[in-house]
Amino acid sequence: MLEVKNLTVVAEGKTILHEISFQISEGETHILMGPNGSGKTTVLHAIMGTGNVAIQSGQIIFEGEDVTALPAYERARRGIGVASQRPPSIPELTLRSLVELVQQSNNGVQRIDELVEIMNCGYLMDRNFNVNFSGGESKRAEFLQLLIQNPKLALIDEPESGVDLDNIGVIGRALHQLLKEEKVLDRHKSGLIITHTGHILDYLNADRGYVLISGQLVCSGNPRDLFEEVEKHGYEGCVQCLKCQ
Ligand SMILES: Nc1ncnc2c1ncn2[C@@H]1O[C@H](COP(=O)(O)OP(=O)(O)O)[C@@H](O)[C@H]1O
Ligand SMILES: [Mg+2]
Repeated sequence: MLEVKNLTVVAEGKTILHEISFQISEGETHILMGPNGSGKTTVLHAIMGTGNVAIQSGQIIFEGEDVTALPAYERARRGIGVASQRPPSIPELTLRSLVELVQQSNNGVQRIDELVEIMNCGYLMDRNFNVNFSGGESKRAEFLQLLIQNPKLALIDEPESGVDLDNIGVIGRALHQLLKEEKVLDRHKSGLIITHTGHILDYLNADRGYVLISGQLVCSGNPRDLFEEVEKHGYEGCVQCLKCQ
């Protein structure tokens, strides 16, 4: 589904990602973890084609097509979607209008009543997108538009940040719905999810995890095992472990 090959990304003259490579197969969910400032969000920007960052070298292949040079909207049309950690406010656009625009996208979901209910967004539909929304409202509205876009590959940045435990449950169920994880044999959707706290792992059957430190993918493996190690030893433990190798 996605192949990231030797990706080097720079912003304002500084190299943020150093020759990163990984692959996500159809139906798989991968987890990206790492300390603050290690470059996690930049990985998502590079894949989606957003943010003020430049791909210096390397390639992003989506469903066999090189999308490295395509603008974000072309990548979205092909089936890549993103839920930002801090979605922007759009004072000129109601959530309802935004959702209607997203419905018109290639694979957009047409009957949305159930999704609006799952995400508890009914009362927000006629408010301007993310203007004075609480942390939980902001995340739920962001996930509603992602569920309606119904992308083949969902890129999700710290879904649990700024959200209380009740809302994490709602977001966790949304991810479950999005990635269609009920039946393993039926899994076609893929996901790349950044998590800091690991809470979201309770709601997913994640297949593989990566640790990103200072813009380099330094470790990969079973996401729960990796997270357990990070909880015990911190990311400093990762650095020490690497020194031993
Ligand atoms: N557009 C940009 N211009 C300059 N520096 C940037 C830009 N985007 C990210 N950075 C820097 O790159 C580093 C990694 O940022 P980010 O990907 O947001 O990390 P993370 O999501 O892991 O916390 C940080 O030092 C950040 O300040
Ligand atoms: Mg980030």
